[in-house]
Amino acid sequence: MSVDVDDQLAARLRRRLAGQLTADGDLRSPEWRQAVETVPRHVFLGPVFYRRRDTDRGTLWEPITPDGTSPADRLSLAYENVTWVTQLDGEDAPAPPGPVTGAPTSSSTLPGLVVRMLEDLQVEDGHNVLEIGTGTGYSTALLCHRLGDSRVTSVEVDPVLGGRARDALQRAGYSPTVVIRDGLTGWPHRAPYDRVIATCSVRRIPSAWLTQSRPGGIILVTVSGWLYGSALARLTVTGPDSAEGEFLPGTVSFMQARPHAAPPIGRLPSQDAGEQRRAVFGAEIFTDWTPLWIAQLAAPGVQRMTVSTDGAPAAHCLLDREARSWAWLIPGEHGTWSVRQGGPCRLWDRVEAALTAWHNAGRPPQQAFRLGITCGEQRVFLPGTGLSWPLPA
Ligand SMILES: C[S@@+](CC[C@H](N)C(=O)[O-])C[C@H]1O[C@@H](n2cnc3c(N)ncnc32)[C@H](O)[C@@H]1O
Repeated sequence: MSVDVDDQLAARLRRRLAGQLTADGDLRSPEWRQAVETVPRHVFLGPVFYRRRDTDRGTLWEPITPDGTSPADRLSLAYENVTWVTQLDGEDAPAPPGPVTGAPTSSSTLPGLVVRMLEDLQVEDGHNVLEIGTGTGYSTALLCHRLGDSRVTSVEVDPVLGGRARDALQRAGYSPTVVIRDGLTGWPHRAPYDRVIATCSVRRIPSAWLTQSRPGGIILVTVSGWLYGSALARLTVTGPDSAEGEFLPGTVSFMQARPHAAPPIGRLPSQDAGEQRRAVFGAEIFTDWTPLWIAQLAAPGVQRMTVSTDGAPAAHCLLDREARSWAWLIPGEHGTWSVRQGGPCRLWDRVEAALTAWHNAGRPPQQAFRLGITCGEQRVFLPGTGLSWPLPA
């Protein structure tokens, strides 16, 4: 394909993507629509990205390389409303010859989610924005298009990814400040910020984001945890150690900020130890968005591992290493579950108490809850009820 044809095709694909995102309700304003129609996502994807394949053996990642895909096909993939994983296991290894296993550690986020978050960020002309998680640089470029390079600072923890994003931004004609460091510490040199947006998730809001925000500034970030419950929070900063805000509707999840990721789970306790009782709630809560999030709020230090032998239904081990406590959730007959718990904390008792309270409150959705930060304490609460849980320290 000649460069001209390439450019024309890319421009057409961008217009089509913008139309689709508008129809889906993610793209809501002319300013962001113009950004989507202008910023060349294909420039940010790099030579290799990965397509997800769910198989009997689990999730595999199929590399899409310049050798295996025609330029026109790569261009068209770049403008699909799809998340393209660009790094696995934090490694910068050469593209493997075929599908591989691995945990995604960077991606070009689903364009629908990127623009939805940018709309939700409520930016205005002249705003100074801090972005955490540069990744490919695509969302950074959208911000530059909307606000101008001098008003955008983006922080990426991975030096290889940060360097690549800088190059791609330059090729696309943008030159924001890209900083390589742990974004949980922000970037004080260009503070105060009117807006902070994170495209990686956190277990609690880093204090640096509060101190580096202007009073009245907005922080938009996914709050997640080690059970992989997650909710998109929009907070208004009220002081250097205070903020309050809402959870937005939808099922938004992001890879966790690297310092907040779960440690290796290690050895599991024996299934025979501890006290056994019949469970009120079973493993169905792990696949139900809001109950999973409530469980995580109630037991924020818990990680989960499923264990299945000889094709039998899986048992679930919940382990809180710091609290030296565990619970085994064991399948019984006719969809029933029993639980065996040990250690100083009865983890499943806590989860069930929280879920029961949530049921009694009428099973409200995430957007009924709020997040408040005062004097460093961070609490998710349900207004009008006594229900609240602290985020982990
Ligand atoms: C989902 S990707 C970002 C997507 C990106 N905004 C885009 O549109 O291409 C998340 C990124 O956050 C980065 N990240 C993880 N922890 C971080 C941290 N503590 N500070 C800064 N970046 C971090 C990852 O390396 C990864 O590149």
